[in-house]
Amino acid sequence: MEHIMAVVLAAGEGKRMKSKNSKVIHKICGKTLVEWVVDAAGSCGIKESVIVVGHRQDQVRDCLKDRVSYAVQEKQLGTGHAVMQAEKYLEGKEGHVIILCGDTPLITSDTIDKTIKFHIGNKCGATVITADFEDPTGYGRIVRDSNGNVLKIVEDKDANIEEKNIREINSGIYCFNIKDLLTSLKELNNNNVQGEYYLTDTLEIILKKGSKVGAVKISDPSEILGINDRVQLSKAGEIIRNRVLEMHMRAGVTIIDPKSVYIDDGVKIGMDTIIYPGSYIETGSIIGEEAIIGPNSRVVGSIIGNITEINNSVIIDSKVGNNTHIGPFAYLRPGSKIGNNVKIGDFVEVKKSVIGDDTKVSHLTYIGDAEVGNNVNLGCGVVVVNYDGKNKNKTIIGDNAFVGCNVNLISPVTVKDNAYVAAGSTITEEVPENSLAIARSRQVNKEDWVVKKGMQRTKKK
Ligand code: UD1
Ligand code: CA
Repeated sequence: MEHIMAVVLAAGEGKRMKSKNSKVIHKICGKTLVEWVVDAAGSCGIKESVIVVGHRQDQVRDCLKDRVSYAVQEKQLGTGHAVMQAEKYLEGKEGHVIILCGDTPLITSDTIDKTIKFHIGNKCGATVITADFEDPTGYGRIVRDSNGNVLKIVEDKDANIEEKNIREINSGIYCFNIKDLLTSLKELNNNNVQGEYYLTDTLEIILKKGSKVGAVKISDPSEILGINDRVQLSKAGEIIRNRVLEMHMRAGVTIIDPKSVYIDDGVKIGMDTIIYPGSYIETGSIIGEEAIIGPNSRVVGSIIGNITEINNSVIIDSKVGNNTHIGPFAYLRPGSKIGNNVKIGDFVEVKKSVIGDDTKVSHLTYIGDAEVGNNVNLGCGVVVVNYDGKNKNKTIIGDNAFVGCNVNLISPVTVKDNAYVAAGSTITEEVPENSLAIARSRQVNKEDWVVKKGMQRTKKK
């Protein structure tokens, strides 16, 4: 196959976004707009991408790092001028280049692929992706001759009344023969209403030089929706979100109400898992098979095992084993590792702790910076007192230990294997293996105290 590279235009400011940030680093399904575009190119086997950066280029570089090369456009003098900045990457190369826009994230690799094939198959100098829009306002219009051949593209602002009535618009995505593109760029001028160097003018130049210009009209115009403001961002978000959800459903995941479920790009979910409404599964998460997520749960960057249930809970950067129940109303904070057959019940918070297999932490408990063994039972209201006001300290609870209700474990402290801790204890010293620790004052009953002191609370008749 011939050499194909991509150039992605992403130098513009995107004023209508009303943002301090570069337009193209806004996210859909956890992934920046420009990454959606670069990944679409990558999925059709394009290995070399050049990003034209300018406005807030630090942010664009920060998210794409060294996956791509960069060309800097200091002043945004138009789309043609933007491509000129990438010339040094194109010069001397044979083959073709796909030009994409950083703010057009819905484009699919299928469409890019189809365009490249059409372009090469028809030996075109340039091929543009077009679509018929109900309302073409703002877009460049595709002007064709009576035989249907593309003649040129006229920008909305430069169009005469007749041209404004054309409904076929320019997507801003093209495939060029590299040599044809480079020669036509040399002849671009900025004699137009906006005083910009329009990339669109290269088509007419290429035709004049005797090469062919083709067009691929796509049937789903949503693919070339450009994002200029937050309203379009949310519309594009909905489309991409549905694509992601559909992919999971087709792979065997039940999503009860897709309208209320948000799954980031790249999340993996096993077969026969059920996602209840109100669930967010975010970047980096891997969910096993036959799991139940939700309702109303948020899983971020976490690994959840098979047959595990996450009910009304939040899990961040943690790992949960198989056949484990989390929630309702549990909060697993970063760095937590929960074993198999575990129960983490209501109002339990776990932070940076390991919980072994078969352990039960059923209610109202805080576990921080702790290592809890296998088959441990932590009663209601256990608090690991991990912070002494200055340092975070570590607590270790051995296998088969039983910690009664309302116990404070003042860290650093260890409860050894098979030990018991009596309810209401405040533990400051190691509890040895097989022993019972009681750390509370003995109960004193003062007989008839109420009567002697006249403290009866019954109402006098
Ligand atoms: C462009 C097309 C128009 C098409 C539309 C599709 C031109 C002249 N017009 O118009 O025919 O219908 O896209 O969405 O090409 N950019 C730079 N540097 C610049 C200018 C733009 O990098 O100097 C980048 C922007 O960041 C953006 C892309 O190029 O990603 C498109 O620029 P934009 O200003 O949005 O072009 P449109 O006016 O929408
Ligand atoms: Ca645009």
